[in-house]
Amino acid sequence: MSYQLLQGKRGIIFGALNADSIAWKVAEMAFEEGATFTLTNTPVALRMGDTPKLAEKLGLPLIGADATNVDDLRNLFTQSMEQLGGKIDFVLHSIGMSPNVRKGRHYSDLDYQMLEKTLDISAISLHKMLQVARKLDAINEWGSVVALSYVAAQRTFYGYNDMADAKALLESITRSFGYIYGMERKVRINTVSQSPTITTAGSGVKGFDKLLDFAERMSPLGNATGDECATYCITLFSDLTRKVTMQNLYHDGGFSSMGMSLSALQQYEKGMECPCEKTDSQGDQHLYD
Ligand SMILES: NC(=O)c1ccc[n+]([C@@H]2O[C@H](COP(=O)([O-])OP(=O)(O)OC[C@H]3O[C@@H](n4cnc5c(N)ncnc54)[C@H](O)[C@@H]3O)[C@@H](O)[C@H]2O)c1
Repeated sequence: MSYQLLQGKRGIIFGALNADSIAWKVAEMAFEEGATFTLTNTPVALRMGDTPKLAEKLGLPLIGADATNVDDLRNLFTQSMEQLGGKIDFVLHSIGMSPNVRKGRHYSDLDYQMLEKTLDISAISLHKMLQVARKLDAINEWGSVVALSYVAAQRTFYGYNDMADAKALLESITRSFGYIYGMERKVRINTVSQSPTITTAGSGVKGFDKLLDFAERMSPLGNATGDECATYCITLFSDLTRKVTMQNLYHDGGFSSMGMSLSALQQYEKGMECPCEKTDSQGDQHLYD
């Protein structure tokens, strides 16, 4: 059901790789709600992924950009304003990638060049797009920028690796730039901290199926789906949330406020032996993967 919440609004949506992507669901819903927008992804993703199919289906402009490349971002914002016919009202940053996770590097043995890439792609890219947009004065007053985050920015989740550090930085950039952009141009910037969701990026996390089950058991409302995340993003792009800025907004069925649930307790009782520790000949316990 459409409320036409984004009627007349222009946007840019980063990160729709395939139909599982959270950005894909946001794009479909933003379209239903009356928005026009540019779809963008890396040149490689445009070749290997389904982003062009979505652009064709919705009849919207598709512009390649590596979100770590300032020249690409400048071209993207300039072209988007030209093709959409005016300044931008909303931006979705739905981007994450860690070469350390991909290569299976343990958090205590990170490759630092890869860590720099993780931070650049998953967090600093938000700063880059905001800096480019501000210099071009590309975002309208009361415009809204949303980036997707995860609770591993606040709590430790084994296996989430250096993406946790990237999310902490992403949320910090949201506050720091949110102050400046809000003061100067009334642009609001928030992160949505989403439940684990089955997508290409999500499934790359070690033990993702168990994480998904654990989060489901721990959340009184159950895990939030990608579609539900999309509806939440739409409200944040709309004029109904004009005074919300510089926030990390949990969209996780209540998970982030939980300590232990009945369902998780019952599951834990089934197997009290921790499969992740072993005792050596000296009697000391060690973690292993
Ligand atoms: N899936 C989950 O469990 C989950 C939970 C919380 C938050 N998130 C966050 O949601 C966001 C979207 O991820 P998703 O789960 O939809 O997975 P996804 O794999 O569908 O999306 C990730 C996107 O990032 C894009 N990307 C990677 N490097 C890029 C670059 N240099 N420039 C531009 N784009 C680049 C990819 O092409 C892809 O489209 C990420 O920030 C992710 O961390 C995901």
